Amino acid sequence: MKTAVVTGTSHGLGTCIAKAFIKNGWRVIGTGRSARPDGFDEAIEYKQFDASDAAACADFWEQLEVGDGEVCLVNNAGGYVGGKLLETKPEDYEKQMRTNYFSGAYMTRGLVEHVPSARIVNVISNSALVDYANSGAYSASKAAAMHFFHSLQKEFPAEKYQVTNLYPSSIATSGPNPEAIDPGDLAALIVEIAEDQASYYPTDMTLFPTKK
Ligand SMILES: NC(=O)c1ccc[n+]([C@@H]2O[C@H](COP(=O)([O-])OP(=O)(O)OC[C@H]3O[C@@H](n4cnc5c(N)ncnc54)[C@H](OP(=O)(O)O)[C@@H]3O)[C@@H](O)[C@H]2O)c1
Repeated sequence: MKTAVVTGTSHGLGTCIAKAFIKNGWRVIGTGRSARPDGFDEAIEYKQFDASDAAACADFWEQLEVGDGEVCLVNNAGGYVGGKLLETKPEDYEKQMRTNYFSGAYMTRGLVEHVPSARIVNVISNSALVDYANSGAYSASKAAAMHFFHSLQKEFPAEKYQVTNLYPSSIATSGPNPEAIDPGDLAALIVEIAEDQASYYPTDMTLFPTKK
């Protein structure tokens, strides 16, 4: 059976990604720091832990049995802290690095220790590539994730681990917004990347809404 591990599924884009994998017949393990949400799709297995905690990630992979089917890890967990320099606190910078960079790094480390080949799809952000005012803490943490995964793209043979970085601009996770990317469309793209059997794979994709 094909297994998808999706971080940050308790709300937002992660829930859509988990549902899209279920729709295509994958076993899905979703994660989040909060408890399993009420009414959460019963088909999604849910593990509650902080993905920026290296030991918790190691325990998660130690306990997970995936057999010899295909595996896809989607590093989606993230959060946004904005604000001018003097409006943000030192702990905001640390939290952003933990949530947006350490979570992907530690989940990927655990995967590679236990699973011999996999696809790894990272939901980064256009903020890693383009400079925005009042976004220093967020953009820096997303740029850290981008460089980390670029390094892994060079370290890993693609026959074993294919690493794709996605750089979406705004996503309509708080309700319909024609000027933002539909989370269902983005989730479908991620499943397509996970299932693609072509003789190539995408290393980096920037994504912008069709209307603005
Ligand atoms: N929304 C946008 O416009 C936009 C644009 C570009 C990129 N992105 C990126 O897309 C991803 C999803 O965004 P979203 O809008 O869906 O965000 P969201 O609604 O805030 O959801 C974030 C998810 O990540 C989880 N999470 C955060 N920190 C975690 C941690 N340390 N360990 C485990 N889970 C954690 C949250 O669950 P808990 O609270 O339960 O931990 C939640 O399920 C993020 O990486 C975000 O940076 C978003």
